[in-house]
Amino acid sequence: MIVRKTAAELEKMRRAGLLVYQLLGTLKEMAVEGVTTWDLEVAADKMIGDAGAKAAFKGYYVPAAGEPYPFVLCTSVNSEIVHGMPNRKRVLKKGDIVSIDTGVKLDGYYGDSALTIPIGEVSEETGRLLRVTREALELAIERVRAGNRLFDICGTVEQHVKSNGFSIVREYVGHGIGTQLHEEPQVPNYVDRKNENPRLKAGMVLAVEPMVNAGRPESMVLKDRWTAVTRDGSNSAHFEHCIAVTENGPWVLTRP
Ligand code: MF3
Ligand code: CO
Repeated sequence: MIVRKTAAELEKMRRAGLLVYQLLGTLKEMAVEGVTTWDLEVAADKMIGDAGAKAAFKGYYVPAAGEPYPFVLCTSVNSEIVHGMPNRKRVLKKGDIVSIDTGVKLDGYYGDSALTIPIGEVSEETGRLLRVTREALELAIERVRAGNRLFDICGTVEQHVKSNGFSIVREYVGHGIGTQLHEEPQVPNYVDRKNENPRLKAGMVLAVEPMVNAGRPESMVLKDRWTAVTRDGSNSAHFEHCIAVTENGPWVLTRP
């Protein structure tokens, strides 16, 4: 069942969303050459605490990993797709890209957003990867409208990524969000005909999160049981927003 939120619930999700936006803005400023992903984790942990919120990922249990996720951020560098773990030894270098993904729970409701940041100058190809992934998300956001169907969103991402020669990660998907971090429906970044194709209705909230590889689509999980990387070692980008379906069109909760 896809939960539809009332106006009052959406206002709460808005507050959670804006906190995530503020957090990612600060982390984006911090993410320069010489900073470690651990520095970002420490700063985020403090900001979430100061805001009276709870980190959404810390303690989140994923059966495949066999233990709860230990950090407030996922920091995925270069060929890491998602679920990279903050590390005191991971120093950001010129030419790297780092995806920062975080979520909070505030007043019972979740917010979840991610972005990929270039450190200094990156190669032209990597710059294009970031741009195309961001564009895919923006085009998909436009499709989050009452009366449209889930596949409109999935297909929009798929089409933009493929037509630009990049590939879509299939093992990780977007999701509904609300009082749970992950609610129905799953939101793959491609049309998956095995899934249902529900019509979107006002009050639904989706976390749309394209994960795009510069090379081949295949991923694998490292021995730490969390970090998903590209099999071919190519770079991967990730952008995510939470979007509410309203009578007046898409409402991106995770930015002003
Ligand atoms: N960022 C993921 C998402 O957008 C969730 C992270 S899983 C966790 O759905 F285990 F790291 F929390
Ligand atoms: Co998400």
